[in-house]
Amino acid sequence: MTLSASEVNQLKQAPATEDVVPLFLHRWSPRSFADREVSPADLRKIFEAARWSASSYNEQPWRFLTGTRGSETYDKIFSSLGDFNKAWAKTAPVLILGAASTKFSHNGAPNGVALYDLGAAAQVLCLQASALGLFTHQMAGFDKDVARKALAIPEDYILGAVIALGHLGEPSALANEQMINMELAPRVRKPVSEIVFSAWGEPAKLEA
Ligand SMILES: Cc1cc2nc3c(=O)[nH]c(=O)nc-3n(C[C@H](O)[C@H](O)[C@H](O)COP(=O)(O)O)c2cc1C
Repeated sequence: MTLSASEVNQLKQAPATEDVVPLFLHRWSPRSFADREVSPADLRKIFEAARWSASSYNEQPWRFLTGTRGSETYDKIFSSLGDFNKAWAKTAPVLILGAASTKFSHNGAPNGVALYDLGAAAQVLCLQASALGLFTHQMAGFDKDVARKALAIPEDYILGAVIALGHLGEPSALANEQMINMELAPRVRKPVSEIVFSAWGEPAKLEA
C-alpha cells in the first residue's frame, strides 16, 4: 500500500502540543520531490529568513551555494552526493550547500562555533521553507573534498550539509521499496526526559 503525497504529509506531522508553534511540528524531511520549480521569490524569502539568524560576534559565517536544476552549480553539488542520496535527491529542483568561515573577520582568530552558527541558520532556512509550503531534506552524505574542489570553496570555509529543497512529491515516485517505506515511516523522537537534565543523566523535572 502506498499513500498520496498529502496523506503522507498528514502522517508525518508531530502531534499538536499546547503552545508549541505548529511550524516546528510540521517540518519533516521527504525524499520525494515534485517536478515543480521553486520560485525565485520564495528562494529569496528563505534566505532572507536565514540571514537573520544569531551568530557569535554577529559574524554571520554562513554561505549558501545554491543551484537550481539545470545549472552548473546544481550539477556540481549533485556530483558530491553519496549514491543513496543521489537516488532520491535527483528529483529536488534546488540543492544548497552550506559552508561557514572558520575565522572571525574582526581579528582573524579561529571561530570555534562557525559550524554551530551555520546549523542554526540552516534550521531557520528549513523552517521558512516549511512556512511557504516547501520541503527540505538535509544531507551529511556527500563527499566534502569533491564538493570543495568542484565548487572552488576556499580552505578556510568548513562545509556543513547539502539541503535539497522543493515541493513534496508522491511517495510512489521513489526509486525502490526501501525508500518508499522510509517515506511512510512515522517520525520518532527521544522523550524530553532523555535530553533535558537537571544534573548530568538526571531528567529535569518539567511539568507534563
Ligand atoms: C545534518 C543532517 C544530515 C543528514 N543527512 C542525511 C543524509 O545524508 N541522507 C538522508 O537521507 N537523510 C539525512 N538527514 C535527514 C535525517 O535522517 C532526518 O532529518 C531525521 O531522520 C529526522 O527526520 P525529520 O527531518 O523528517 O524530522 C540528515 C539530517 C541532518 C539534520
